[in-house]
Amino acid sequence: MKIFITKKIPQKGIDLLRASGHEVTVHESINPLSPAELIQAGQQADYILNGGMQKFDADFFKNCPNLKALSLMSVGYDNVDISAATQYGIPVSNTPGVLSGATADVAFLLMLAVSRKAFFNHKQILQGQWKGFDPTAHLGIELNNKTLGIYGLGRIGFEFARKARAAYNMEIIYYNRGRNLEAEQTLGARYVNFDNLLTQSDVLSIHAALTAETANRFNQDTFKRMKNTSILINTARGGLVKQEDLAKALREGELWGAGLDVTNPEPMTPDDPLLNLENVCILPHIGSATVETRDNMALMAASNLLAAIKGEKMPQTINP
Ligand code: DGY
Repeated sequence: MKIFITKKIPQKGIDLLRASGHEVTVHESINPLSPAELIQAGQQADYILNGGMQKFDADFFKNCPNLKALSLMSVGYDNVDISAATQYGIPVSNTPGVLSGATADVAFLLMLAVSRKAFFNHKQILQGQWKGFDPTAHLGIELNNKTLGIYGLGRIGFEFARKARAAYNMEIIYYNRGRNLEAEQTLGARYVNFDNLLTQSDVLSIHAALTAETANRFNQDTFKRMKNTSILINTARGGLVKQEDLAKALREGELWGAGLDVTNPEPMTPDDPLLNLENVCILPHIGSATVETRDNMALMAASNLLAAIKGEKMPQTINP
């Protein structure tokens, strides 16, 4: 079978596919394919494994009638029009679970870094601004016994809440489409409405998928309702936060700070106003970026495709 991989992925995933005798072509460039190039690839291949943020819209599925399955090496699938894929009979799979621990680690890293203004303090040293020990300078805030609010309590949110509770005895509150009884029973998490999530959280961490309903959910209005000592963390998708409103809220002291692993757009340009604020820590979408996790994601994405090739349902199929 002909398999096209849209971006270089860990070799283990490629080897698994080649070991099964399939013809694997990899788009090696970091630059995404244009829509026309992607359609061309989808017309020439039987199966596609997506290693990047490539967009698969209705036009793509309509123009690739011979494509048999699409396997994503990501848990997020906001880049894929799932209803169009379903309409054209193309199963799509993702890689849930294997990246929860690594992504929760990045949420944790950002929470701690923002609470102590770590990135700004580092920048101060680089710029020769560190004048010496000062008992009244560089002050952060502590996390012990504070309230952590989780927006979207799925696997990653749960893992982050578990770590935060174990490390800092944080009280966990959450807002979700449905109740998460495991989190309530094992972490004592409390389900709250969206307004209470905003007003009660000392740290509010976003873990929901980007959808029409969640786009720009965090904006001027929501920042105004949050505590001015609170920290916003986003390791989900940049589109959930209205970034210009966040910059304004941070400048005006409506929040203590923000930690972002995802931005809108990506990559963020070096002149973005958020980068100059002292109460912001930004990372380049590295939530799942560990050797172990990326290997596991590549293997899971390859295994999904191998199942489809055998005529089986891909274990992590997204389509209804
Ligand atoms: C995911 O898996 O969705 C990560 O954000 C990487 O794309």
